[in-house]
Amino acid sequence: MATGPTLRTFPSLALDALRHPYWTAEYLRGGGLPKLEIWTAYAPPGSSASQVAAYYVEHWNNAQTWRDLDRIRNLWKDTFVVKGLVHADDAARAIAAGADAVTISNHGGNKLDCMQGALDSLAQVRASVGRDARLFFDGGIRRGSDLIVAKALGADFCFTGRATIYGVTAGGLRGAQRAIEILQSDLAYTMAMIGCRSVPDITRDYVSPTQP
Ligand SMILES: Cc1cc2nc3c(=O)[nH]c(=O)nc-3n(C[C@H](O)[C@H](O)[C@H](O)COP(=O)(O)O)c2cc1C
Repeated sequence: MATGPTLRTFPSLALDALRHPYWTAEYLRGGGLPKLEIWTAYAPPGSSASQVAAYYVEHWNNAQTWRDLDRIRNLWKDTFVVKGLVHADDAARAIAAGADAVTISNHGGNKLDCMQGALDSLAQVRASVGRDARLFFDGGIRRGSDLIVAKALGADFCFTGRATIYGVTAGGLRGAQRAIEILQSDLAYTMAMIGCRSVPDITRDYVSPTQP
């Protein structure tokens, strides 16, 4: 049984690169494998992209607790957003600990794809944190209707990851901008179809009561 991601072999990658010369030239022109920029400053000087990635993994703290959250909140005087919570109690606790906002997210399911979906708990989270707490949301936003459903279930703001990444792979920065334009026009079209004039007017009533 496969237990991890399958890695492509170098010959198949090399063949792919040769078959897509424009893409390969652009990739090399951009400096090749992207570095984890926010970690580059801390890794040993001159580290390659894979050395920076290894440094990041080595220093990854996988045992953060609510005490750490309190400590960071005390040290960090600026806006503080906690990302990656899906359980209502956790979100309420983060807000009570002083977070300015919580991003309801399971990181796109990229670590555990059978994990509870962020959308599944969104309405419950909103009920738990109250109307005034700021809730951000991400996970699976691909169409205008996804934005509407997230707003209806309690999100104040949505992020999108893969929709824009797909745009980048197709057309670089312009591709990401195009992905956002598609989302915007699809949102406007769907708003017209459901007869809703503005985003603040999107309420829970637009979503079936049988939704989570
Ligand atoms: C390739 C990739 C790498 C990601 N790396 C991180 C990460 O390092 N930290 C993090 O909090 N989320 C990470 N995410 C999750 C995104 O921040 C975001 O939560 C997710 O992509 C949203 O779901 P969507 O892609 O369906 O829009 C990553 C997502 C992707 C696709």
